Amino acid sequence: MLSSTVILIGALFVVIFGLQKGIKHVQRRKQAKKLGCEPPLRVKTGFYGIPAFIQLTKAAKERRWVEFIESRYQEFGNTFIQTFIGKDGISTIEPQNLKHLLGIQFEDFGLGTRHREFFPLLGDGIFTLDGAGWSHARALLRPQFTRDQVADLDLMDGHVNRMIGLIPKDGSIFDIQRLFFLLTIDSATHFLFGESVGAMEGDNVLGNATVGGAQGFADAFNKAQEWVTFRSMALDFYWMINPKEFREATRRVHEVVDHYVHRAIANKNAEKQESGSERYVFAEALARENSDPKFLRDSMLNILLAGRDTTASLLSSTFWFLARHPNVWEKLRHIIVEEFGDVEHPKGQITHTRLKDLPYLRYVLNEVLRLLPPVPLNFRVANKDTSLPVGGGPNGKSPIFIHKGQPVLYSVYAMHRRKDLYGPDAEIFRPERWENSKRGWDYLPFNGGARICLGQQYALTEASYTIVKLLQRFQVIEDGDPWMKKPVIQSNLTMAHGDGVNIRLY
Ligand code: HEM
Repeated sequence: MLSSTVILIGALFVVIFGLQKGIKHVQRRKQAKKLGCEPPLRVKTGFYGIPAFIQLTKAAKERRWVEFIESRYQEFGNTFIQTFIGKDGISTIEPQNLKHLLGIQFEDFGLGTRHREFFPLLGDGIFTLDGAGWSHARALLRPQFTRDQVADLDLMDGHVNRMIGLIPKDGSIFDIQRLFFLLTIDSATHFLFGESVGAMEGDNVLGNATVGGAQGFADAFNKAQEWVTFRSMALDFYWMINPKEFREATRRVHEVVDHYVHRAIANKNAEKQESGSERYVFAEALARENSDPKFLRDSMLNILLAGRDTTASLLSSTFWFLARHPNVWEKLRHIIVEEFGDVEHPKGQITHTRLKDLPYLRYVLNEVLRLLPPVPLNFRVANKDTSLPVGGGPNGKSPIFIHKGQPVLYSVYAMHRRKDLYGPDAEIFRPERWENSKRGWDYLPFNGGARICLGQQYALTEASYTIVKLLQRFQVIEDGDPWMKKPVIQSNLTMAHGDGVNIRLY
């Protein structure tokens, strides 16, 4: 008797749930029709989308998932729908859709599950929050980025010189990416925390994997990022991924950052700040706004995450291309030496304004960011039932309906390589294409709309300064892996060269 009652109640629940889903489905179809929406192409991904998910994780393991995703766009067009472990996601690389997703309809979309996936490492910060929490974080951080101190080239100078000191002078092959990652962790912690972790200090940095505690911090930070990427890939099953290695790495990162948090709180009201005689320190400026230690830790870590690997990635890719395009190296070097002199005969100080006045340097950076954007893949999730303007119907020109909770994935890597947008030579590295060229929503290395990168100017200044100093110092670049025509793209949250960037500098 009891069991038949249980079965009856169970069946009733199934019927009610099915009915609710059915009604919602009909309502959505009606709404979609009213908005003139047509469905995008549906790509088959096997039972529950599991085979496609396995294919994707295999591609990620083999360090080719960015290209794998691009190949899907080449095969199925610029907008399509596919199922991954039971979830229907829209994939799009239509500039018009991105303009609405990130700009015009910003309120309709959010970061989805990013907060819960990243929370153990990043807590509540600009990179993980949506809505009012995000607005507040952004409003607090924005003034820090408009200050002149963001372009503090004196601060950069010591770190760049230290990095140049680590480059083999006998012309032997070395991995410059490794040095760029050390450079950016040292300069970012110096700028943000007031004191560099000093990852480049100590002996034999090039060959030694464990340079004291600083390298330990960098390694823990890298490891923790790898795990939050896995958590993101697992979608709704993110909570299953919380291994000891992740917890340990997170603990180590927090321990180091907390040291700096206490330092910032202690220093925030020190007289030296008032007198203006000391250098600006991001964390101390922030502590004057809000000195809650948890707030400070989260804010500092969020910015460190946003700013460190991205800039290292840009610099590494720049040298990857320069090593393969000696004509660009020659032209850029000529322009730099004309303006700033070489290392033996420098012409004046390298300033932010003078760096901005070198258009060809900017074209080179633009072109690197086009072909190898440091954040190649991204997504948003609909906060409500809504639509995007194109991608539906047989010709892909009709609006598409997006239901609440649906992810919209985009690959700026794939969009930046579209031949219909960038011409038949879209795959080719050609900085000259940027002469007299202004792009819009088809070029998004720094994202667009309300959540556009806050550190764009900082990153471009840091990268430009480092490039100028390196080209002043070295006359010749040679590719250390001449057989490698395509980079091995390893992408966690940001992209890096899986096998390094091996070059010679003379
Ligand atoms: C070449 C270097 C860089 C690139 C390509 C880059 C790219 C991006 C992208 C694509 C986003 C959007 C992420 C998303 O919304 O999902 C972003 C956000 C952000 N970036 Fe950067 N970034 C770079 C350097 C930096 C630096 C150096 C800093 C700070 C020191 C920084 C601070 C931020 C912050 C705070 C956000 C979050 C903005 C928000 O959500 O309101 N970035 N960046």
